[in-house]
Amino acid sequence: MPQLNINGRLHQVDVEPDTPLLWAIREQVGLTGTKYGCGIAQCGACTVHMDGAAVRSCAIPVSAAVGKKIVTIEGLAKGKVLHKMQKAWVDHDVPQCGYCQAGMIMAVAALLKDKPQPTDADIDATITNICRCGTFQQVREAIHAAAKA
Ligand code: FES
Ligand code: FES
Repeated sequence: MPQLNINGRLHQVDVEPDTPLLWAIREQVGLTGTKYGCGIAQCGACTVHMDGAAVRSCAIPVSAAVGKKIVTIEGLAKGKVLHKMQKAWVDHDVPQCGYCQAGMIMAVAALLKDKPQPTDADIDATITNICRCGTFQQVREAIHAAAKA
C-alpha cells in the first residue's frame, strides 16, 4: 500500500499507484480542502505543494508522490498562525464562492517562496488558476499586500 507524507504525517493509502494524488488526499486521507475542478490539470483547483513546488494533484499519480513532502491547504497555517497569504486573503476579502481559493492560495504561496516580490507579469505567468467568480483583481491585490508584509 503506498505511503504518503501529507502535512508532516504519514498516511497509508489503499489505492492503485496510478490513482491521481487528489483522490488519495480527499477520499483516503479525508482532507477535502483541496478541490476537484477539471481533472485535466487546467483549472488549478487541486493545487498542492510537492517538495515545495505547486503541482496540480489531479494530474499527479500517487506513485510520483511517494517519498515527497505534500502540503495541502490544511497544512499551510502553522497551528493557529495563518500563512501570510491566508491573512492577505482575509484582509482583502478575496473569496467569493471559495471553490477555487484553496488551490489559488497554494499556487500563490509557492510563487512568493520563489519570488518574494512578484511583478504583475510574474503573477500573470504563474498564477493560471481559473476562478469562475472572477476574483483575479482581488487576488493580485492580496499578492502584492502579502509581498510587502
Ligand atoms: S482539478 Fe486539477 S487542475 Fe483542475
Ligand atoms: S471564488 Fe468562486 S470560483 Fe473562485
